[in-house]
Amino acid sequence: MRQQLLIALAALAAVPLVLGVSAAMFQPSWSTVELQHIQSLSLANLPPLQPDLSNRVSDDPVAADLGKKLFFDTRLSANGKVSCAFCHQPDRQFQDGRPVVQGVAKGNRRTMPIAGSAFVPFLFWDGRKDSQWSQALGPIEDPAEHGADRMMAVRLVSTAYAPEYTSIFSPLPSVEGLPGHAMPGGANGLDAAWNTMTPVQQNDINRTYANLGKAIAAYERTIKPELTRFDGFASALAAGDQKRADNLLSESERNGLKLFLGKGNCVTCHNGPLFTDNAFHNIGLPGFDPARDRGRAASLAEVAADPFNCLGPFSDAKSTDCSELRFITASSPNLEGAFRSPSLRGVAQRAPYMHAGQFATLRELLVHYNKAPAAPFGHSELKALGLSEDQLDDIEAFLRTLDPASIPSNGRSS
Ligand code: HEC
Ligand code: HEC
Repeated sequence: MRQQLLIALAALAAVPLVLGVSAAMFQPSWSTVELQHIQSLSLANLPPLQPDLSNRVSDDPVAADLGKKLFFDTRLSANGKVSCAFCHQPDRQFQDGRPVVQGVAKGNRRTMPIAGSAFVPFLFWDGRKDSQWSQALGPIEDPAEHGADRMMAVRLVSTAYAPEYTSIFSPLPSVEGLPGHAMPGGANGLDAAWNTMTPVQQNDINRTYANLGKAIAAYERTIKPELTRFDGFASALAAGDQKRADNLLSESERNGLKLFLGKGNCVTCHNGPLFTDNAFHNIGLPGFDPARDRGRAASLAEVAADPFNCLGPFSDAKSTDCSELRFITASSPNLEGAFRSPSLRGVAQRAPYMHAGQFATLRELLVHYNKAPAAPFGHSELKALGLSEDQLDDIEAFLRTLDPASIPSNGRSS
């Protein structure tokens, strides 16, 4: 809604220019290339979300309703306290502000926000999942997160959500006589329990478990990135309303934007309306332990072998629909220690930063980019920037314009 209003206001603001009002008030301080870059980053240019062909209920509102209930259901955990929302908190951009995850136990990566993840081809910091529905199946069985198992999850759906489930998907399999808890590869007897089941029973449980992920994904797709002051600025520029644009971003913020696009080199990896190239890079972060976390290098084989991937038996896609997975970048030394460039929308409100919360503040992070130290493992793609303290202030100020914000209405009155 707000976006439509903004576009309408921007269009109105453009009218005087079309009528040939004095060019003197229009003082562009941006090069043509910069103007193009600014538009390419604007939320107004986010393409419509395409259906997820591997999930036939991806845009079904009834599935989204069920998914929302599951997202907030703490019964889906070993201790009855952890739901997806335990870490993905709606009032904190669906993350938790912790340096590393703390669910049923402590993990080694930071919680990621959800908005925009429907546009991401490979999810998680290392890209080991290729859809939102397949992603959702991971945390439930992760001992540090929900600490649950798929058998328990299917039992919960059978007892608490049967009518909703069957109205969206096929009938529920019978769980009578099956173990209370079971999952392939699970510790503490869970794997043994899984192996007491016949292949047909296992397949039924897997299918129901996959459907549970598909409902959750339908809900997650409704969590959209929000408009920011920067988007208002970009729309004003698109409408040729320099004055309104200048009212929306301070001088320091505009300087920061110029550096973001130019000398700071940020836009090479943080580009497009979500400020990410969705690719994996080693940026030489401190505190890196390859024994614990090799990043993208380790996840390529994982996503390819995942039975819940786009090409697997539980996907609704044709194999030709799975081009991201079929043409996945083959393993290469450049992927050692590489993690996905995250979206920068709302980033100032999401400290600490990076995949393991390595930096407590934006300033610490910017100092890292400015110095570009050698990587503790693999090769860093960064080059030292040689920016002054003032310039770092400016980039930091610009990053704060990416916080969700209501955009003041048309600047003609000011
Ligand atoms: C205990 C905290 C915790 C819980 C519970 C949890 N997550 Fe997460 N979530 C994380 C962490 C940590 C990551 C990043 C992990 C990684 O990269 O290995 C993440 C990543 C994600 C991502 C990837 C976003 C992206 O841009 O790639 C999505 C989507 C997500 N979680 C959804 C869910 C859903 C759905 C559930 C419930 C079924 C859930 N999470 C439960 C902590 C949690
Ligand atoms: C070579 C690609 C690359 C360049 C250039 C780059 N970044 Fe990043 N950025 C990344 C990656 C990859 C991460 C996540 C790294 C990780 O956690 O392991 C990241 C993380 C971030 C984060 C933290 C986001 C979060 O949620 O934790 C911020 C803020 C950020 N970058 C800002 C910038 C700024 C500002 C610049 C320019 C000065 C810049 N980046 C240049 C790739 C890049």
